[in-house]
Amino acid sequence: MCGIVGVTGVGDALPYLLQGLQKLEYRGYDSAGVYLTDASGKNALIKEKGRVSKLAEKAKAHGFSGTAGIAHTRWATHGNVTIENAHPQKSADDRFFLVHNGVIENYKELTETYLQGVHLVSETDTEVAVQLVDKFSKDGMSTPDAFRKMISLLDGNSAYGFLLVDHEDPETLYVAKKKSPLLVGVSDHGNAVTSDAAAMIDLTKEFIELRDGDMAIVKPKSVVIYDAAGEEVNREPFTLEIDPEDTDKGAYPYYMLKEIDEQAVVARNISAHYFDEDGNLQGIPCAVTDTIQEADRLYIVAAGTSYHAGLVGKRYFEQWAKIPTEVHIASEFAYDQPMLSEKPFFIFLSQSGETADSREVLDNVKKQGYPALTLANVMNSTLTREADFALPVLAGPEIAVASTKAYTAQVLVQAILAASLGNPGFDLKAELAKVAVEIQAITDEKESFKKIAEDALKDQHSAFYIGRGLDAAVALEAALKLKEISYIQTEGFAAGELKHGTISLIEEGTPVFALLTQSKTAGLLRGEVAQVAARGANTIVFASEDLAKEGDAFVLPQVNELLMPLLAVIPAQLVAYYATLARGLDVDRPRNLAKSVTVQ
Ligand code: M6R
Repeated sequence: MCGIVGVTGVGDALPYLLQGLQKLEYRGYDSAGVYLTDASGKNALIKEKGRVSKLAEKAKAHGFSGTAGIAHTRWATHGNVTIENAHPQKSADDRFFLVHNGVIENYKELTETYLQGVHLVSETDTEVAVQLVDKFSKDGMSTPDAFRKMISLLDGNSAYGFLLVDHEDPETLYVAKKKSPLLVGVSDHGNAVTSDAAAMIDLTKEFIELRDGDMAIVKPKSVVIYDAAGEEVNREPFTLEIDPEDTDKGAYPYYMLKEIDEQAVVARNISAHYFDEDGNLQGIPCAVTDTIQEADRLYIVAAGTSYHAGLVGKRYFEQWAKIPTEVHIASEFAYDQPMLSEKPFFIFLSQSGETADSREVLDNVKKQGYPALTLANVMNSTLTREADFALPVLAGPEIAVASTKAYTAQVLVQAILAASLGNPGFDLKAELAKVAVEIQAITDEKESFKKIAEDALKDQHSAFYIGRGLDAAVALEAALKLKEISYIQTEGFAAGELKHGTISLIEEGTPVFALLTQSKTAGLLRGEVAQVAARGANTIVFASEDLAKEGDAFVLPQVNELLMPLLAVIPAQLVAYYATLARGLDVDRPRNLAKSVTVQ
């Protein structure tokens, strides 16, 4: 969703800010803006609707680069996508400039109480925040006090990341955060603030992680941090272990294709991390397994693709570790908590580690005193920090909005965790090595899926994915992949449900993809494929080697049946990718979506 970058004391601020915004583009946004200044107070505020490239053109044409500045990509919440609503927002007297991530729930009440008579030019909650700072400053407060006072008035539920510049002290950045990621980047040639470290790696790899309630004052050569109680604190920087090339798409036309192709390597990396050379499990602290063993039920909580990965993981925890497991959608669990068992253990699955719905559940669960583990791709994220335990899923930076390698990585790490708690009954390490080889084999045949996608989906309005058992779980993910980027309305569901309603939607030529990898129900699923075909559907079957028949669209290499989701999802990812290309859409940046959903 929204992204923040800021720099000070860098000599030439604009290039850093624009590169930063470009690196944040993947998170989803609909307008962008930059405020530039220098020690003399010369300044410029430039905003644009749409892509960062448009903002870059406008900013370069302006010709001022500054030595400090703040910039933002906005994903509209309060107010339409307009230049007025884009950030930075400014105070009426042009003294304060502010960028903001999050939502100020009580901004209307604050306007009525404190800003009577102030003319607001935007529809945003952010403008209210910056006008409040200005008001308190005019009342005689110093800038840090006015900033602090504004924050103290925010509704307790408001998650926020703020970055403020005072024109009267132009190279100083005022920073505050709660439940919204914000890091301070430090270097000998200037300092930075960013909501995503990857956006500032051209300046530094050293970052200080701010905690909830922190406020920081960042100058060209100093960083001072105050905790929620207002006490000055020392927080050590960490070095970001990231290869700048990992965040580039190299020769690939889209990140999504690169990330689909990376899945074989990801599978190998995960195995190398969690198994030693003799095949023994490693990297999962005893405290994690001991605490889980004490639980009488696991609750997997997640959203979107991560939720779908949880549906597969449930099978491993139940079948191998013999622990009853429930999988819940975070946004539902947060406000309608089901009856819990006596000794629950929570597992949060998240690519970003910042999903607001999941964070809400983790907060609730912590208050109730239950233990929690986060499996996340982005370590040092809120969900990893705030859970009792965290394990990395090791997919590497995932930039495309549509999650691909994070899904397979989450399934893999759940399998490994379940194996550490019980017994899969086969050599998991060896089988995962085979999985990696076969993922590679499928991605090597990507051209087959290009043809399938173009033939079946180019001009379609709707499509279906069906399966049974684990294939039904994968069908949900397959359908999400296709619909979110191609805008083809796609339903994924348990094939047995067809006759209970959905089959009435089948028309001549309706594409119905069937995932067929589970032997127990293969006969039934074949029957369902025949039933939709008899009603005119264009059936496309992806079947595992052991179950394949003539006429199937693609034969998936055979691995242990419980691990087949790791292979069955790949054709679905490639079909979604190629269908989207065929329809002339932006694969990596589907409309209305954000990579990391940091508001509820
Ligand atoms: O970062 P998270 O895994 O917590 O995000 C949850 C969902 O927003 C995410 O999985 C989303 O559904 C995917 N980007 C869709 O491809």
